[in-house]
Amino acid sequence: MAKSFHAQWSSRMTFILAATGSAVGLGNIWRFSYLVGDSGGAAFVLVYLLCIALVGLPILVSEWMIGRRGQKNPINSLAELARKNGSSQAWILVGVSGVLAAFLILSFYSVIGGWSLSYTLSSLTGDFSGQDAATIEGLFGALLESPGMLMLWHTIFMALVLGIVAFGVNQGLEKAVRLLMPALVVLLVVLVIYGMFSGHFGEALAFMFAPDMSAFTGDVVLAAMGQAFFTLSLGMGIMISYGSYLGQEVKLLGAARTVIILDTVIALLAGLAIFPIVFANGLDPSEGPGLIFVTLPIAFGGMTAGWLLGLIFFLLLTFAALTSAISLLEPVVEFLEERSPLSRVPATVVASFAIWGLGVAALLSFNLWDFTVLFGLNIFDLLDTVTAKILLPLTGLGAVLFAGWVLSRDSVAKELGLSGGAATAWNVAARFIAPIGVILVFVFNLVG
Ligand code: PFF
Repeated sequence: MAKSFHAQWSSRMTFILAATGSAVGLGNIWRFSYLVGDSGGAAFVLVYLLCIALVGLPILVSEWMIGRRGQKNPINSLAELARKNGSSQAWILVGVSGVLAAFLILSFYSVIGGWSLSYTLSSLTGDFSGQDAATIEGLFGALLESPGMLMLWHTIFMALVLGIVAFGVNQGLEKAVRLLMPALVVLLVVLVIYGMFSGHFGEALAFMFAPDMSAFTGDVVLAAMGQAFFTLSLGMGIMISYGSYLGQEVKLLGAARTVIILDTVIALLAGLAIFPIVFANGLDPSEGPGLIFVTLPIAFGGMTAGWLLGLIFFLLLTFAALTSAISLLEPVVEFLEERSPLSRVPATVVASFAIWGLGVAALLSFNLWDFTVLFGLNIFDLLDTVTAKILLPLTGLGAVLFAGWVLSRDSVAKELGLSGGAATAWNVAARFIAPIGVILVFVFNLVG
């Protein structure tokens, strides 16, 4: 997305919208809610919020700062800044692992984007109207068991992403983000209100916010940190790219606060919308990746004009997924454009085709290839785990270490408009708190 802007974002607002468009996506609604359900509820939510504030914020700001100073794509920005600051060229590995992560994530992200498209159509045709929970669960099961349907929707989703990136119509999408993001928030609020009256709201609140100490396991902490990276689009070079189109006048800390608040509010609202319905219908919160595709249609199916709300919801979700997906394709295309003789359109086609192919392997994990390949995980889960729990945190760690230790302390304080205690606080966060947080979670998980 950033590349087609060449010079600079037209305004601070456009930049914030683009960053929010990348951040808010399936991660906030689909991934957040199923991880909360799967990872012990409140324990996960609390660690996630801590990770967002203590690790996510410094890394988001570091990535933007690297991009704005380097004024190039992630790999070249790091190379250039490392050279200028007399540091090792090995820093470019941070950019390389980001591109790899983007490639892997988009392959399975597109499969879920396909589910969202499929559910948009099903809402339109009234498939959920008046159906009971078991029937709706059955519909989702049938989708997963059909490689043909999964492939069809995954292909349509990927084709949309390809079209948008290849023809560079992203600017139009940003105007749409301005309209559709508030619409998504309003719809989530409607669902939360529905849950207050028709669901088990108290139970949902306790599940999300009253932690059970025994639920704080190493894996929950690692999953929460992975989600913090995933949801803020960190560790992938995307925010470095976006930073490279950023004018000097934009205040990074303020912009980061806006993006993070919007992203977090949407995720929490999604949880508050979904869990009352889960408990009211006796569903299993740890149902896994199908959670929203089972619970929300149950709610829509039972409401007057629910088909219309369902239609609007899944359309908005698909849209949010598309704006995130195009931001994921961008680094891969940019990489191919620079490292191969391909120009933009062929590079987009080649990247999309390769990602589509890996996505097919991911979607077959739900049916024909329903076997484990490594560490007890199937291909889909492996892609998700390797990226969110390993690649994103490591790449983000690289970015914050670079900003904390390689860039000069005074220039950073000046760039962030900080002095005295606030400058020291930033320094401590970027040099120690965020990196130690990421490292501790890894070590904790290895020994735990
Ligand atoms: N942040 C997006 C979401 O939460 O759905 C997903 C995503 C987009 C992850 C871009 C990573 C990324 F670079």
